[in-house]
Amino acid sequence: MKVRKAVFPAAGLGTRFLPASKAIPKEMIPVVDKPVIQYIVEEAVASGVEQVIFVTAQGKSAMEDHFDKAYALEDLLDKRGKQKMLGDCRDLWTRVEVVSVRQHEPLGLGHAFACARNVVGDEPFLGMLPDDLVDNPGYPCAKQLVDVYNKYQCSVVALMKTPRELIDKYGMVVSKPVSDNVVQVFDCVEKPKPEDAPSDLGIVARYLFTPEIFQALSETKPGAQGEIQITDAIARLARKGRVYGCIFKGERFDAGDKLGYLQATIHYGLKHPELGAQFKAWLKNLVQGI
Ligand code: G1P
Repeated sequence: MKVRKAVFPAAGLGTRFLPASKAIPKEMIPVVDKPVIQYIVEEAVASGVEQVIFVTAQGKSAMEDHFDKAYALEDLLDKRGKQKMLGDCRDLWTRVEVVSVRQHEPLGLGHAFACARNVVGDEPFLGMLPDDLVDNPGYPCAKQLVDVYNKYQCSVVALMKTPRELIDKYGMVVSKPVSDNVVQVFDCVEKPKPEDAPSDLGIVARYLFTPEIFQALSETKPGAQGEIQITDAIARLARKGRVYGCIFKGERFDAGDKLGYLQATIHYGLKHPELGAQFKAWLKNLVQGI
């Protein structure tokens, strides 16, 4: 079955990004000239997604507005002959359908995915964490997961070799290689201490779930931090042989973290079609002076 939908859990308060995220959703903070979430919606669209489902909360409606038609703005741009800007604004609401559902209580990432159950229905879907950027324009990370799903018809998690000092920030997996960059996952554990980690492969930011995940979530009790963890539901499926992992290719930035955000800004600034060359010259000069 074709993967047509992507769920974005975006109800969090963004405390890692305060004070910037106090009055605007952290997903709307721009990297160069686009909000972080736009990069990830574009990755979804480039991977074949036709509908994105935002799981949101109070104070987050700027995300829906961003992907809606802004009639007065488009009318003004049209009258002024600003066709490029007009095209960019129209792309936001014509290329993908945006649906949103509410997560009424902050009960964890697993709970956030469960909130999208009725909108997803009985089909496979991507799970994309909206503060994690993965850059690979030739082969988007979400598309890499879709390709693994198409081959094995199981849920798939994006995996990355994780430095020891970061292991307690990620879901870590037990797995065995099946090909170059694909593994079968047998178990996983949420944010273990480095000495308890089953391997150095961590789950990062992108998931592809079969509808089985909803049953697994309904059987999952609150785990680490008293929250319903998606990692615990994935572990249930993994123990039944229903999960694969894709060691993705691409540069990943945790844009929900201040340092990761700065690194993403430099990375995308250097690649920007209009600003990149000038920015690079300025940056070179700056670095020489440090
Ligand atoms: C979440 C997941 C964790 C995953 C991580 C990175 O943690 O719970 O398993 O490894 O995202 O994408 P969070 O960063 O929300 O604390």
